[in-house]
Amino acid sequence: MAEIPLIRATALTKSFTSRGRTTRAIADITFAQAEGEFLGVVGPSGCGKTTLLRCLAGLDHPDTGTIEFDGHPITGIPPALSVVFQEYNRSLFPWLTTLENVRFPLRRPSSLGRRARAATREQAREALSRVGLADFADHHPWQLSGGMQQRVALARAIVSRPRLLLMDEPFASVDAQTRATLEQLTITLTVELGLTVLLITHDIDEAIFMSDRVLVLAARPTHILRELPIDLPRPRDDVETRALPLFQNHRRDIHHLLSPTPDS
Ligand SMILES: Nc1ncnc2c1ncn2[C@@H]1O[C@H](COP(=O)(O)OP(=O)(O)OP(=O)(O)O)[C@@H](O)[C@H]1O
Ligand SMILES: [Mg+2]
Repeated sequence: MAEIPLIRATALTKSFTSRGRTTRAIADITFAQAEGEFLGVVGPSGCGKTTLLRCLAGLDHPDTGTIEFDGHPITGIPPALSVVFQEYNRSLFPWLTTLENVRFPLRRPSSLGRRARAATREQAREALSRVGLADFADHHPWQLSGGMQQRVALARAIVSRPRLLLMDEPFASVDAQTRATLEQLTITLTVELGLTVLLITHDIDEAIFMSDRVLVLAARPTHILRELPIDLPRPRDDVETRALPLFQNHRRDIHHLLSPTPDS
């Protein structure tokens, strides 16, 4: 591939030491993601998925290995990157309205003039309406359901038009119906805004349904067991796509890779 990938991780390793005990979270991870690609990362609980995401987001440093964003080694949090975390109730500011939460990444309080402030409010309104919450701009997060709060988090993540959207189990805390709606909304936003998304999940079906390619991670210390291209047709439909034999083959393959062997 001649093109420079948007993100490239090479030979990452990461351990944690506390009270004299060392935990190897990442054994060895190498992968690249192209601009415009929807990459799913699936792995068992505790395998090191969040650790990987934190390294990619510049929130933590790998012990060894390199991460490049658009061909340049990352030295901090890349500005063209947004993250959606699992815990929406801890990631939104309860004292701000939904509009102000969404506008937050655009705020430069002292330097912005009145007109520029109005423009960022307009951008935040636009992002809120993209996630279907135009009528809730003046509500506070605690006045919204869990699914609605996660929509606010999504609006906040896209308001700055990031080049890369990292999502860490974003729909794990909502019910199945809301989850399906949020998955579809994320796909729609991806298409409308031309986003590049890296989605971390322990839900195999979700990874297959949403992704162009899935990395299957092994249990801790994590490494990549398999890279699986998902050539299911788009647009994907919650019922039709999941019923396709190809979908079920992918599901079987990943289950098989992640199931403990009888003697392990
Ligand atoms: N700051 C830390 N200090 C010590 N150990 C840590 C720290 N962060 C993570 N770990 C350990 O690293 C391993 C991987 O954790 P991580 O949170 O990345 O897993 P995960 O795949 O995201 O899990 P889950 O599916 O439950 O979210 C775990 O054993 C965890 O206890
Ligand atoms: Mg995690």
